[in-house]
Amino acid sequence: MGIPRTWGGVLGGLSAFCAIAQAQTSTPSPTSSASAQFTVPAEANFAPAVIPNIKDPQAVDAQTVCPGYTASNVQQTSSGFTASLALAGNSCNVYGTDIDALSLTVEYQREDRLHVSIVPTHIGAENATHYIIPPGYLAEAEVEESNVVSGLEFSWTNDPSFGFEVTRKSTKDVLFSTKGTKLVFENQFVEFKSSLPENYNLYGLGESIHGFKLGNNYTKTFYAADAGATVDINVYGAHPFYLETRYFTEGADGKLTLVTSDETSPNSNYTSLSHGVFSRNAHGQDILMQEDSITYRALGGSIDLYFFPGPSQPEVTKSYLTTVGLPAMQQYWTFGFHQCRWGYKSWAELEDVVNNYTHFEIPMETIWTDIDWMLRYRDFENDPEGFDDESSKGFIQRLHDSGRHYVPIIDSAIYIPNPEDLEDAYPVFERGNEAGAFLTNPDGSIYVGAVWPGYTVFPDWLAEGTEQWWIDEMVRYHQTTGYDGAWIDMSEISSFCVGSCGSNNLTLQPVHVPFALPGEPGNPVLIYPEGFNKTNATEAAFASSARASWSSAYPTTSATSSASYVRTTPTPGVRDVNYPPYAINNVKGPLAVAAISPNATHADGTLEYDMHNLWGHGILKATYNALSAISPDARPFILGRSTFAGSGSYAAHWGGDNWSNWPSMIFSIPQALSMSLLGIPMFGADTCGFADNTDMELCNRWMQLSAFFPFYRNHNIIGAISQEAYRWSSVIDASKTAMAIRYQLLPYMYTLFYHAHTKAETVMRALAWEFPHDPSLANADRQFMLGPSIMVIPVLEQGATSVNGVFPGLIEGEEVWYDWYNNTAIPVPSQANTTIPAPLGHIPVYARGGSVLPLQQAALTTRDARNSPWDILVALAKDGSATGKLYLDDGVSVTPDATLHAEFKVENRKLETIIEHGGWVEENSLRNVTIWGVEKTKSPIKFNGKVVSAKNVHFNGDKHTLVVSLSSASAWTGKGWSLEW
Ligand code: NOJ
Repeated sequence: MGIPRTWGGVLGGLSAFCAIAQAQTSTPSPTSSASAQFTVPAEANFAPAVIPNIKDPQAVDAQTVCPGYTASNVQQTSSGFTASLALAGNSCNVYGTDIDALSLTVEYQREDRLHVSIVPTHIGAENATHYIIPPGYLAEAEVEESNVVSGLEFSWTNDPSFGFEVTRKSTKDVLFSTKGTKLVFENQFVEFKSSLPENYNLYGLGESIHGFKLGNNYTKTFYAADAGATVDINVYGAHPFYLETRYFTEGADGKLTLVTSDETSPNSNYTSLSHGVFSRNAHGQDILMQEDSITYRALGGSIDLYFFPGPSQPEVTKSYLTTVGLPAMQQYWTFGFHQCRWGYKSWAELEDVVNNYTHFEIPMETIWTDIDWMLRYRDFENDPEGFDDESSKGFIQRLHDSGRHYVPIIDSAIYIPNPEDLEDAYPVFERGNEAGAFLTNPDGSIYVGAVWPGYTVFPDWLAEGTEQWWIDEMVRYHQTTGYDGAWIDMSEISSFCVGSCGSNNLTLQPVHVPFALPGEPGNPVLIYPEGFNKTNATEAAFASSARASWSSAYPTTSATSSASYVRTTPTPGVRDVNYPPYAINNVKGPLAVAAISPNATHADGTLEYDMHNLWGHGILKATYNALSAISPDARPFILGRSTFAGSGSYAAHWGGDNWSNWPSMIFSIPQALSMSLLGIPMFGADTCGFADNTDMELCNRWMQLSAFFPFYRNHNIIGAISQEAYRWSSVIDASKTAMAIRYQLLPYMYTLFYHAHTKAETVMRALAWEFPHDPSLANADRQFMLGPSIMVIPVLEQGATSVNGVFPGLIEGEEVWYDWYNNTAIPVPSQANTTIPAPLGHIPVYARGGSVLPLQQAALTTRDARNSPWDILVALAKDGSATGKLYLDDGVSVTPDATLHAEFKVENRKLETIIEHGGWVEENSLRNVTIWGVEKTKSPIKFNGKVVSAKNVHFNGDKHTLVVSLSSASAWTGKGWSLEW
C-alpha cells in the first residue's frame, strides 16, 4: 500500500552542518549573550559541496568504460571452488585505481547459505581494512564442516567478461545475475550489478524511511547520518540485506510462471518463493534499484555476498539472522510503556511525571532522561542542580520499589576540558586519554569535533584500551546512579563541525554548539501537525509565520545548494577519503559534514572512512559488555541509534528524530517491519512525534498505534509542548484502552521475543509474510501483525473516524478474524478493502482464528501484570482448531535457571495444554478460559476430565463465546491440563 505523500525538511537545531573535511581550526565567535561562552561559528558548519554521482549530469557510467575481469585458474575445494580474476582490458580507473588481480571464492557454507567472496589478491597489513571488516568486530559466519547440499547453484561465465549467476535449483529461477555486466573493483569504488524481474518485491536495505516494498526507482544510500528521520535519505543505520519475494502461478504441468503485476487478484492462490541477499560491506555506498536491476556501488570493501534460498520469508530471516547474530532477549519490564522527553529538568520533575501516570492510572514502566541530566552535557556526571547524586538514590529506590525503571541517555562524544582552566576537570576524559581510547588526526594528535558539551573527542573501538575504559566509566557512574539500561545517542558518529575543528581552540572551552538549541532564543518550536491547523487555525498561522522568520538562519548543506561542486579524480594508488571520486548520495553532502571526518584515524591506522558505518555497532557492543559487568546475570537493555547488520544482538533501536505529524506516524510501520527483517525486533518510534508540537488527535492515535510495537516510548524535543499521555483526557482514555490490551498480551509478546531470540522468528510481521500466497499484500504497510495471531489496523489520517483495512484470507474463506473488543468473528467482507468504524480512541485490533493466547491482567507495571492470574483466550479457526505457545522464566536472566514451555492445542472441542517444566514454578492461578467462535457446547464441560459446575460456565450463543471460570491454582504445576466443551 502506498504512502500518501513524502515530507522533508531538516530539523533546525539538530542537523548541524560543518566545514572543511581536514583537521582544521575555526575562529570562534562570542555569543551575543552576556555569558562568556563562545559559539562555534556557523561557517564551521559548511564544506564545499559535492554533487551525488546519481544526480550528476557529468557522471561517467562505470559499466560503459570499465573492462571487467576474466576468470581463470579454477581450483575445486571441499565446499566449492576458488578462481583468479584478472582485469580484462585496460584499466578504467573510473572512481579509483583498478585492482588488477582478484581472488574469487565460492563456498556452499550451509544448506541455507552460499557465500561468494571477491577480494584483491594482494592485501597487505596496512591496507587490509580498505577491503575487509576488522576480524572480530562483527559476528563471523560459522561454516558447516560436512558436505553441504545446497538449494542454490552458482555458475559463471567469461563471456563477454566475468559474470556470475545464482539459481534456485528446484525451479531454475535465476535469483541474482551479474552476467552481461562489468565487475568494477578499484581501491575506492566497487560496482556490480544484477538483473531483477520486472516489478520486483524487495524489502529490507534499512535503515530507510520508505514504504515497506522498496520500489524500482529508488537509491538506497548507506552512510550513517545524524539526519532527522526523513523519507528516502540515508539515516542512522546501515543494513545491506534484502529479502526478495516472487509470486508464481502454477500450471497443470507444475510449471511456475512468474507473476509480475501488483494488480493480481486476491481470489487466486499463488506460489510464493523468497530468498535473501546480504552484502557484508560496511563502506559508504549507493544501492540503485532500477526497473529491472540492482546495482551496488561502494566506496571500498569487497564483494562479500551471502545468498539465502528460503524459500519462505521465515526461512530467509532465520538464515540471515543466524549469520549476523540473533536478536538479544529483552528483560520482561522493557515491554512496559516508557516515558521520555528532552527537557525533564530534575529528579523532582521526573517523579512528578511518574506520579501523574499513577494518578491517572495509566501504566508507566520506565522514566528516561535526555541530556538534561548531565552537568554541561558531559557523560557520567550528574548536574548537581536538579540531578544531584544523593537524590538520585532515593528517587531510583522509590522507582524500583514501585516496579519501575530508569534509563538515562549516554552520548557518544566525550568532552575535552579547557587546558588553561584548572577548574574544568573532567576525569572521564583524562582516564580515556590515558587509555589511548580516542580517535586521532592523521598526524597523531587527538581528533576534536563538537557535540553538545562543546569540543569533544570520540572513542576508538579499534584501540585496545577503549572498551575497558568505557566499561569502567559505566560501572563507576552506576555506583552513583543505579540506572537500569542505557540509551546510546549520536553514534553515527555525529559531530557538529567538520574535521578536528577544536584542535586549536580548546582554551575557549566549554563552547556552545554552532546553532541555537531547540527552545533557545532564535529556535522556538512552534509547528503543529495538520490536524491542529484545521482545528486551531489562529495558533497554527502564528506558528508557521514564526517558523518562517527564523528558519532562514539554519541553511542546510545540500548538494544542489551550490552551482560549483567538488569533483575529484583518482590519483594512482592514493585514496582521497574526504572527497572520494565517486560521490554517494549522502544527505549531508560531503562525507565529513555532520559526522567525524573520514580521515579521523584509529589506533591501528585504519581510517574512519573504512569504519564509519560500524562505529555505532562498536559502542553498542562495548555498552553491552559494560551492562554485563554491572549486572552479570541480567540481559542488558540498550537503545541504540546507529546500527549495522547484527546490532540487534546487542540493542534495541528507535526510529530517531521524527516529526509530530501524520506521515511520521505512518512511516513508523514500514520502518518497524524492515527492522524486524533486519534482526532488531525491539523497535519503536518516538510516539506522538519528536520534533515540533504534537496535538491531542495525533497523540491519541499514536499512543494507540505504538502500543502494538515491541518498544513503546513517548519522547519529544526540548521546547515543544508536553506530550505525556495524561496531558489530554481523550489521550488518557485512548492510551489506557490500548495499553490494557498490550499488558494483557505481555506473555504472548514475551514468548514471541523468546522465539525471535532463539529461532529468528519475527515479532512485528508484515501481512505479506503471514499470507505469502496473496500478492496483493506485497506492499501492505498500513496494517500489520504482532506475531501470527494479532492484527492491527490503525487510523493514520487526521480527522478520520473510520479506516480501510483488509482481512487476509477471508475471500478464500480460510481465515476467521475476531474483533478484540466485541469478541465476535467479523462478518466476511465482500471485497478486499473494508471500511472499519474507528472513532478517536478506538484502534481496531483482531485476533486471528486458530490462535490460543495466554493472557494476564492489565496493570500499571509489568511486575504487577506478571503477578496476576491467567486467562487463556482461544480464538477458533473455521475448522474449530487452534494452537499457541507460552514461554516463561524470571524475565531477567541471561541464562535462566528455570523455564516453562507450554503448548496449547485445540481439536474437536478439546483444549489440551502440554507443559514442559524446566524448573520454573508459575504461581499465578488460571482464572478463565475464554473461547471465541463456539457454535455449541456439550454438557457437562470438563476440566481435566472432571465436570465443571454449571455456575462457572457462561455460554453466549448469540456471540458464540464461552467463558469457563476455573480459578485453578494448580494449572501450571503438572504436565498439562485439558478442557472439553
Ligand atoms: C538526538 C536524539 O535522536 C534525540 O532523541 C535526543 O532527544 C537528542 N539527540 C538530544 O539528546
